[in-house]
Amino acid sequence: MKALAVHPGTAHSLHLREIAKPDLDSIPNGRGVLVKVLQVGVDATDQEINEALYGNAPEGDDYLVIGHEVFGRVEEVGNAVTHVKPGDYVACTVRRPGGSIYDHIGRSDITSEEVYYERGINLLHGFMTEYFVDSADFIVKFPESMVKIGVLSEPVSVCAKAIEQAYIAQQRLQVWEPKKAWVMGAGQIGLLATMMLKLKNLDVCTIARSAATNNLKAEITEQFGARYISTQNQSLEEIAQKHGRPDLIIEATGNSRIAFECMNTLNLNGALVLTSVTGGSRRTEIESDRINLEWVLGNKLLLGSVNGNFRHFQEGIAALALGDAMYPGVIERLLTHPIDGMDHYDQLMPLLSDSSALKVFVNIAQA
Ligand code: BGC
Ligand code: ZN
Repeated sequence: MKALAVHPGTAHSLHLREIAKPDLDSIPNGRGVLVKVLQVGVDATDQEINEALYGNAPEGDDYLVIGHEVFGRVEEVGNAVTHVKPGDYVACTVRRPGGSIYDHIGRSDITSEEVYYERGINLLHGFMTEYFVDSADFIVKFPESMVKIGVLSEPVSVCAKAIEQAYIAQQRLQVWEPKKAWVMGAGQIGLLATMMLKLKNLDVCTIARSAATNNLKAEITEQFGARYISTQNQSLEEIAQKHGRPDLIIEATGNSRIAFECMNTLNLNGALVLTSVTGGSRRTEIESDRINLEWVLGNKLLLGSVNGNFRHFQEGIAALALGDAMYPGVIERLLTHPIDGMDHYDQLMPLLSDSSALKVFVNIAQA
């Protein structure tokens, strides 16, 4: 069967190749699930992998099949699988357990080991192919009535985790009633986080580079009931003066400079969650004395969040369902750039660099 792969460490090596169809029995104890791949989303992580800034091939292979945002339909299940059956629509988690205590309790998303295993990213082949097999432990059922937006399951799981972690960590305050939230960046993570925070009744500003006029990202933000603010003509300080300091910031610009810059504007007792995966080596000068003083005197919290586990997928999918009911037709507006089959793989990377492209994804088979 066909697959899209790169040679990690070699920039711009994306290529189509033949790989063997996986076997249900490769998963022990009747826990295997064979899934026909319908769609695979790509994001900035795939771009960094193709630029050889990030990612590693599985041991013994010189290539890595890419793809970590998968949506598919179950073809066959092992005899010990009960939560999905052939015909069900499903998503699949990305990370696989290592050896730490967190890995053993189903929390590989917070593994304490340096080496982490992620399908399509690090040391494990991904889903950009026709079929995949995995353990039922990682297969998440998706509602049939929402198949149109199924490819957003993985990105929304990342948002679900980031927001959940902030709320859990803020229990340190005994009482935390955040009113204002900022989302930095209006890519897929930024917009899905915007929706989830609006569903939690926060007053949300989504802050991004591009001007608001003729801008799909601004339209979607506003359809979710949030405020879109462009940084073209105003600084973050000015935005804070005008709209108030946020109690919660979800940073998802992919730009580490912004991650530090927004430290200046967080409210007292606030939490800043960093989610951008920045494989480069950029350096930034910051006002370290001022930030340090304000963060100490303001009891502020800085939190990193990566990946999403099974439960975060379920929570993310629940948010997609509520969001789709609350803002009908809006979520699917994120699905801007479908690519018609893996043969057109040369379109992938140029589209990922196009700042107007929100969700780039490959249609692999019909739903
Ligand atoms: C993926 C996450 C992954 C992270 C780090 C992101 O693009 O969506 O699942 O944990 O990259 O590799
Ligand atoms: Zn991703």
